[in-house]
Amino acid sequence: MDIRRSLSNHSGPRRSPHELLRRLAERVTPDTNPEDPVRELEERVADLLGKPAALFFPSGTMAQQTALRVHAERRNRHAFAGHPQSHLHVWENQGYSAVHGLRFHPVGDRNALLTLDDLRTVKEPLAAVVIELPQRDIGGLLPTFTDLAEQTRWARENGAAAHCDGARLWEAQTGYDATLPELASLFDTVYVSLYKGLEGVRGAVLAGDEETIGHAAVWRRRLGGAIVDAWPLASVALLGMDENLPRMREFKSHAQAIARAINDDGFAHTTPETPQTPVFHVHLPMPKEEAQRAAENLAGDTGIKLFLYARSNPDPRRCSFEVSVGISALEFAPREVAELIRGLPSRV
Ligand SMILES: Cc1ncc(COP(=O)(O)O)c(C=O)c1O
Repeated sequence: MDIRRSLSNHSGPRRSPHELLRRLAERVTPDTNPEDPVRELEERVADLLGKPAALFFPSGTMAQQTALRVHAERRNRHAFAGHPQSHLHVWENQGYSAVHGLRFHPVGDRNALLTLDDLRTVKEPLAAVVIELPQRDIGGLLPTFTDLAEQTRWARENGAAAHCDGARLWEAQTGYDATLPELASLFDTVYVSLYKGLEGVRGAVLAGDEETIGHAAVWRRRLGGAIVDAWPLASVALLGMDENLPRMREFKSHAQAIARAINDDGFAHTTPETPQTPVFHVHLPMPKEEAQRAAENLAGDTGIKLFLYARSNPDPRRCSFEVSVGISALEFAPREVAELIRGLPSRV
């Protein structure tokens, strides 16, 4: 299917191999050594987050499982706590347990942000507490900085590491007055993704202190992640750092304008009502299968990709989808998005 415009930064023209190669050609010069881009990327992430060390990984899945493994070995504890909808638990086939022998302790309500009181209910020794910023699967909600500080302090006071699932940390920071180093300072380890807001191909970086990251490098090799020629992934991510990183607030403002148009229109509504980051959810009064079919027909008829997939709802008459505003979504006027959504039932 020929996708010409996309509301999601995970698909569409900007991710086509041809477009990526064109942009890459501007960055890779005859003087570029294969190891340069990865080193530059690691240094840049460490610097941006104010952490002493950072390490490239081919995926966030590997980076986060490694971080937990290291925290567990150094504490001789085998459980970690996190939100019930943590990516580690929902999307990784329990890799933490199958590969690393760790246990996940879900805390709090699956449809709300984790709280300090939720953490206080945990009575087993934890190797780590994982906090995802923003909490993607509940519409990209963010805890306040004070809540975050209290929760990470609780982790450390109880002998656990505080780990940040910062797949969308660049986006999350737009919801705080705090700087990236201020946010990162609350955590022992921070993982960031290279292909969400940065629109890279794939890849991740794990940042922390020298000792933790040194230990993580051992596990990265064991897991087959110490790939020497990762320069294409790193180079595209560096492009994203140059082009996308300075525009995160613009992405958030556009997300807020789109959400306002959808809510004013009234056919659908968003959560949160006012997005705290460039990521939010749209709730539709349509069954999931119908919404999916309508979006496919829309893409076939117009080349517009409205969303990647529809999410089910406990009420089968309703569903939702995620919007993640990046450069592609800036092409859409807020009113146009509201009208496209209102028109979905006519495309079933
Ligand atoms: C919140 C979150 N954490 C971790 C990951 C895992 O990243 P990767 O796809 O690089 O393994 C993702 C990927 O979508 C994610 O959304």
